[in-house]
Amino acid sequence: MLATAAVGENPGLSNAPLLRALRGEPVEHIPVWFMRQAGRSLPEYRAVRERATLMEITHLPELAAEVTLQPVRRHGVDAAILFSDIVTPLEAVGLDVDIRPGVGPVIAEPVRSARDLRRLRPFEPAADAPWLAETVRLACSELSVPLIGFAGGPFTLASYLVEGGPSKTQARAKALMLADPLTWRALLEYLADVALASLTAQVQAGAQAVQVFDSWIGSLSERHYETHVLPVVRRLFDGLGALGVPRIYFGLGSGHLLEAISSAGPDAVGLDWRVPLQEGRLRLHPEIALQGNLDPVACLAPRPVLEAEVAEVLARAPARGYVFNLGHGVAPETDPGLLSHVVELVHAHRAPDRGLQP
Ligand code: CP3
Repeated sequence: MLATAAVGENPGLSNAPLLRALRGEPVEHIPVWFMRQAGRSLPEYRAVRERATLMEITHLPELAAEVTLQPVRRHGVDAAILFSDIVTPLEAVGLDVDIRPGVGPVIAEPVRSARDLRRLRPFEPAADAPWLAETVRLACSELSVPLIGFAGGPFTLASYLVEGGPSKTQARAKALMLADPLTWRALLEYLADVALASLTAQVQAGAQAVQVFDSWIGSLSERHYETHVLPVVRRLFDGLGALGVPRIYFGLGSGHLLEAISSAGPDAVGLDWRVPLQEGRLRLHPEIALQGNLDPVACLAPRPVLEAEVAEVLARAPARGYVFNLGHGVAPETDPGLLSHVVELVHAHRAPDRGLQP
């Protein structure tokens, strides 16, 4: 196992490479973490899952903190990400949510009308989800890298609530958006409040950066995103600004939305593999840091192919304001040894013009 030193120490983390990079400051090495780094690619996670469901793990701070630490211990990544799911706050406010293996979140009673909205009550993390802050506190007490808190973006959570489960096209959600924009707006405002409450609780408990996963916004046209989603996301990022930690925004297949995303106010944007980093750099506001964007499928290829793909990403990376990541989550069948190798490659990389060099 690599870099066990990454767990158990407690230096002043405000200058950790992840946070420096997110602030656009020079770094000694490029920081790297992986979306869905805790999960089924790790045998130690699968061992925990034999004893408990995903929802049970999130409700047990010791277990959730342990699973949060697993990829940090194994891979020596530059950040931990809280082990949870984007739908856990919905379960915490009393909705019947089931996370089905191989399927994703399933909502027993979908929300499809103004009347359904009345079933949604405000999320109060201290009362509804005391395990959330406790998990963050426990994990942070053992970490020597920053912990990233996260929440689902309003469109992505709305799509699960309206569809009642995963959907390839988000057709029902988009139909509600177009047919009944007022109900849609009220639903998104509610979900932005849920995200803000959850992220505030996570930061107060020790999270040093936050990521909003608005994974499915790529299914929207720029016009629809700007009209029906952006104002709510902008308000969410404004609210998060008061927390004083870097705010990352990620959406899969959102290359056509980069200018709109830029105007929502994030400090960093996660790009998937479809947008070359140098193009993202040109199109996003210059002060916004970039995160991404190795195709997760590259981690299923033989080692030399993976090495070449990592080199291609690094060759396009900006000199400052850059965090290496995948363009989406780790595939469950990924060999974890290859992920550790990616971390070694990224840490060993030296760009000619990269400010601070050891
Ligand atoms: O990144 C991490 O390591 C932190 C943990 C994390 C999970 N879900 C745990 C999880 C994070 C950040 C998420 C976010 C999440 N969940 C998103 C946004 C990121 C993305 O992938 O776009 C979305 C859309 C979800 C909803 C969700 N939950 C899906 C689509 C699935 C997969 C279902 C499956 O089995 O294929 C889940 C389940 C889930 N969430 C797993 C994990 C580790 C795997 C299932 C399990 O262990 O039972």
